[in-house]
Amino acid sequence: MDKFLIKGGVPLKGKIEVSGAKNSALPCLAAALLTDETVILHNVPYVKDLITQRRLLEDLGATVLTPELRTHKISATSIVTFEASYELVKTMRASVLALGPLLGRFGQAKVSMPGGCAIGTRPIDLHLKAFEQLGAVIELESGDVVARAPKGRLVGAEIGFEKVTVTGTENVMMAAALATGKTTIRNAAREPEIEDLAELMNRMGARIRGAGTETIEIDGVEGMNGAEHTIIPDRIETGTFIAAAAITGGEIEITRCNPSHLRAVIAQLGTAGVEIAELNQSTLAVRRSASGLKAADVTTEPHPHFPTDMQAQYMALMTQAEGDSLIRETIFENRFMHASELTRMGANISIHGNEATVHGPTKLSGARVLASDLRASASLVLAALCATGETLIDRVYHIDRGYEMIVRKLRSIGADIERIADSSSANAEAGQGV
Ligand code: UD1
Repeated sequence: MDKFLIKGGVPLKGKIEVSGAKNSALPCLAAALLTDETVILHNVPYVKDLITQRRLLEDLGATVLTPELRTHKISATSIVTFEASYELVKTMRASVLALGPLLGRFGQAKVSMPGGCAIGTRPIDLHLKAFEQLGAVIELESGDVVARAPKGRLVGAEIGFEKVTVTGTENVMMAAALATGKTTIRNAAREPEIEDLAELMNRMGARIRGAGTETIEIDGVEGMNGAEHTIIPDRIETGTFIAAAAITGGEIEITRCNPSHLRAVIAQLGTAGVEIAELNQSTLAVRRSASGLKAADVTTEPHPHFPTDMQAQYMALMTQAEGDSLIRETIFENRFMHASELTRMGANISIHGNEATVHGPTKLSGARVLASDLRASASLVLAALCATGETLIDRVYHIDRGYEMIVRKLRSIGADIERIADSSSANAEAGQGV
């Protein structure tokens, strides 16, 4: 398994570019299953999860061409199976996004039930209940979810999610697009990725209103067409770079981002002593304020509030802030795995249930640490960037799932980071070399 070797203490300086949003590209690729015409997606990040999603589409019978590294031309003209295998679902939960479009277009789908993952149980019960409300019959057969529309086509319905679910909202939008009649989703997720998916789907001929609000209305259509679409910038990568500048006391410009997608993160980090200036609609200038970082409490909540996907990076940053910061995680029950690794580096963090208190500031020193999930890996990279000495982060395949060319990007702004490739894997930077 590849590792990162990081020598900390270098203030980051220069310009860094944000890639396309992983969590938008994943559902947009799945949406290409809704039509037999070609869907062209630009700004698809070159990360492991997208390679897995591409494989899923190809296994189903679609062809995916990449005339350029970040452009995907997907044609789901002839689908040969309606089944997403356990092998794929176990490596990437987002494979469940195949359920909605397959069920919507073909009236049948079979996807392995995702199991637990490092950050919690992450069930899909709300997706399945919503599909049933759209008229699907759902059965569980030896670990697989088998879904059928008995009349061949789903029927529009009123769906009220009892809990906000991002992938659930996306799955239902895709299933309902080709249903007969109107579907209303209440308590829908409001993430920018939902709006991006709706924009693509509307270009494909769907009739979706209200994406980005808590009520989404979908008028079912008879068929959908090909379209061309550019994926939005990754707001979590943007937030991670802001934290990287702040934790190293550097000064960077973040380009090709969309600040309007991360208002809560910008506000929270501003309160904690990070100066963030919007130079234009897609560029941020970031530096730590002269008075230093100050402790500030935060609670993770669905968008537009502070995202759970920034919690681990925020925790790393707060180890350098003056005072106690209380961090409440309300989305996933087991998402403090990075805390014990940060503690090994010298952080002082106490955990009580879903609350962590970071007592800062503490000097961090390099250590051997283990990445446990995607965002936890990012927090360890941040900690290592400000630690004295060398940090060796193991299991960085987690970070390869969602951060495009992270080593190359951080090096370009002065970080002393290198990938130590496992001789048994040809894995460097998701296959590109560093
Ligand atoms: C998505 C993101 C992930 C992010 C998360 C929260 C993608 C591919 N993944 O994950 O990066 O961390 O949103 O913003 O976009 N729940 C249920 N039953 C369900 C579905 C969800 O109980 O059927 C619960 C989950 O356990 C969790 C909460 O609802 O506690 C939110 O989950 P959800 O928004 O569905 O997360 P994901 O879509 O899996």
